[in-house]
Amino acid sequence: MNNIVNSLQKNNLVKEILAWKKRRDAVILAHVYQPGEIQDIADFTGDSLFLSQQAAKTQAKIILFCGVQFMAETASILSPKKIVLLPEINAGCPLADMAPAEKVKSKIKELPEVVVVSYVNSSAAVKSLSDYCCTSANAVQIAQAISAEKDILFLPDMNLANYVAREAKRKIIPWSGFCPTHHLLTKEEVVKMKKLHPQALLLVHPECRPEVCDLADYIGSTRGIINFASNNQVKEFIIGTELGILYPLKKNNPNKIFFSASNNMICPNMKLITLEKVLYSLQNMVFQITVPEEISRKSLIALNRMIEIT
Ligand code: 13P
Repeated sequence: MNNIVNSLQKNNLVKEILAWKKRRDAVILAHVYQPGEIQDIADFTGDSLFLSQQAAKTQAKIILFCGVQFMAETASILSPKKIVLLPEINAGCPLADMAPAEKVKSKIKELPEVVVVSYVNSSAAVKSLSDYCCTSANAVQIAQAISAEKDILFLPDMNLANYVAREAKRKIIPWSGFCPTHHLLTKEEVVKMKKLHPQALLLVHPECRPEVCDLADYIGSTRGIINFASNNQVKEFIIGTELGILYPLKKNNPNKIFFSASNNMICPNMKLITLEKVLYSLQNMVFQITVPEEISRKSLIALNRMIEIT
């Protein structure tokens, strides 16, 4: 009985959201780490790169971003004339917070010759200090576009920096940040899962530790992981990234089996967004994410370089 009531309430909420979305002329973008019911109401779901591309080219007046702050900021930089809404203002990113702009500024002063590449999981202020931006989907490609003569200061994720250094064969000075959700996954957990499921392929995000990546059959962005699993003949996969990704994986591949490498791989910030908050956001036009003009203008240079190369 309770289930029926809940599902009726949910249906009504979804109807209301869709009506408000139309009324506001909004596009809903959702990262694949979002709860399944949020991914279901989105116009576009995907990884950071895909969502920023959608934000840059949308014709809608409002971009409602179901993700975390740096994603909404990026959307605002790429589409400065649009209103960007984030349904939960506290949805931050601890990885981005590990590289405060002031510290980055002094590091750049210490190393004036380096090319600065910042992962999209960084604040707008840090992007504005960078030569290039990148996402996990194109980080290797971006590094390869930079002369091998140059040293690259890569921030804020040290695991991604390590992966890029190996794949792109570039000299990289890593910032010492990490994503707590991905860094949590240990080699021991992965070895145990591989023993339990010997037929399964291991697919991991490059924010995982190097010793975890070393065991993987595929390393890639969330969208890369989804494409790899969907296009592969193999039927079983162990997934080393945030648990939200299991929703589209299972939905799009009903005949395949997906195991999470660890049930602890949950990003609490991504889970702060709910259907109720999405509705409230559209009704009340909150929380509007804006980036100061000077920072936005400078960040756009680094973001546009990324988009051109990709
Ligand atoms: P993607 O670039 O794969 O979307 O990853 C984003 C992210 O925040 C990983 O922690």
